[in-house]
Amino acid sequence: MNPFQRIKDEVDRKLHNKLPKKWKKIGDIIIGDFSKLTPNEKTKVAPIYGKILKVKTVLQKNKINGELRKPENTEILFGKDTKTEIIEYGIKYKIDLSKIMWSPGNTGWRSILDGPENISDFYNFDNPKVIIDYFGGIGYFTVQLAKSYPLAKVISIDKNPDSVEYLKQNLELNKINNVEVLNDDCRNINQKADIIHLGYISNTLEFLEHAHSNLNDKGIAIFHEAYNNSWLGFKKRSDWGPIPTKFSKLMEENGFKTKKFERVKFYGPSKSHIIAYLQKI
Ligand SMILES: C[S@@+](CC[C@H](N)C(=O)[O-])C[C@H]1O[C@@H](n2cnc3c(N)ncnc32)[C@H](O)[C@@H]1O
Repeated sequence: MNPFQRIKDEVDRKLHNKLPKKWKKIGDIIIGDFSKLTPNEKTKVAPIYGKILKVKTVLQKNKINGELRKPENTEILFGKDTKTEIIEYGIKYKIDLSKIMWSPGNTGWRSILDGPENISDFYNFDNPKVIIDYFGGIGYFTVQLAKSYPLAKVISIDKNPDSVEYLKQNLELNKINNVEVLNDDCRNINQKADIIHLGYISNTLEFLEHAHSNLNDKGIAIFHEAYNNSWLGFKKRSDWGPIPTKFSKLMEENGFKTKKFERVKFYGPSKSHIIAYLQKI
């Protein structure tokens, strides 16, 4: 029997149409949308999810806000601990889900060189000496980058002090010692690099000029962003094709040649989260 069926079996029939059929499991915590239930109903239902899904905490799905990507007013429905540990591709990440976001949809992409060819292709660099991660977070990409390129110096920058605290712990946890952590706006940091990673969504373009001026000759920017499928030239959500002309033109105006382009995931009904491998012209 699937877990949702088992949950339903333990919940009053009258509530079945209000129960979340989907949830995200992050370490030993689940996040689901229980908002159709009254507070009283939530107190009855959430422990059942906790028990059947074998997690210590159940959280209400909430908005991720602002440029620091902080979760807004975390509502704990069952349990009390919002800290968890995630293991992905041999890397351990500690995180407090009440303070910092975790994007399960990016999972494959965080594998870097350990992943399938279409992913490792984007992260295969020729002997880089300095790699800068502009939006280090808790180490989503920083830890993998540092592990994949042990001879490189990795500089990981994040504006959010909570993320930086976990980033430092995660480096220690994974015995990584080639990373310098900076708690600042990446645009305040002027250090030359061979690779700059821009793992951000919403206004990544605004950071590209700074990346350009900090990259060495022929340096590489790994650029994440979300675009409307129609702007990319894809009519339907399922369409996908070669590097979109509008995108390459935009990158050229910003001093970069687009060498590779892929969809990371669908991002809402009409958008795609994309990744591009850009070389400084
Ligand atoms: C949450 S991450 C993106 C998601 C991540 N790549 C993943 O795989 O889940 C974005 C990070 O960028 C940081 N950030 C936002 N603006 C920044 C800036 N101007 N300079 C440095 N860090 C910034 C935020 O604090 C946040 O930790």
